[in-house]
Amino acid sequence: MERIVLTGFMGAGKTTIAQLLSQKTGLPLLDLDTIIVEEIGMSIQDYFDLHGEEAFRRKETEVLERCAEEKGIFSTGGGIVLREANRSILKKMKNVIYLKADPDELVKRLADDQVNVRPLVLSKTAEEIKAIYTPRIPLYEECASLTVDTTGKAPEATAEEIINGVK
Ligand code: S3P
Repeated sequence: MERIVLTGFMGAGKTTIAQLLSQKTGLPLLDLDTIIVEEIGMSIQDYFDLHGEEAFRRKETEVLERCAEEKGIFSTGGGIVLREANRSILKKMKNVIYLKADPDELVKRLADDQVNVRPLVLSKTAEEIKAIYTPRIPLYEECASLTVDTTGKAPEATAEEIINGVK
């Protein structure tokens, strides 16, 4: 096993689980949002404000295309599945995991996260956030080789489940 790709909605725990998997497997961590932030030289929030979501999505595709062949634990942004080009890359990568979670729990985790500022959920109601998540669910499912439900589960248990489920 040389690659695990974590997908799922904002608040699904991709970053935390990716860090754990990196420690457990010794594979390097490839956090696509972090790579994007380094390359654009500003926060995702500022980039959205200055250039708009579409420009961010183009950058996201460029980074995914460039990194797809690398070995490591990939943590992707929650919107990675929106573009057909990205879905087609993901479907060719092995061990793409959809970190699923109950929408109410996702909303709670997002509200509790004081560190990460996410432009798409900023000042949105729970119902509005769920309305972003719902149409994405089939897209996460379409790209995933394994779905892991993280609802009520500790990150350690989720990481173990992934390790036992990948090839
Ligand atoms: C986004 C998710 C974010 C980040 C950007 C857009 C989305 O990443 O890529 O704010 O559209 O779901 P996380 O899922 O790591 O929060």
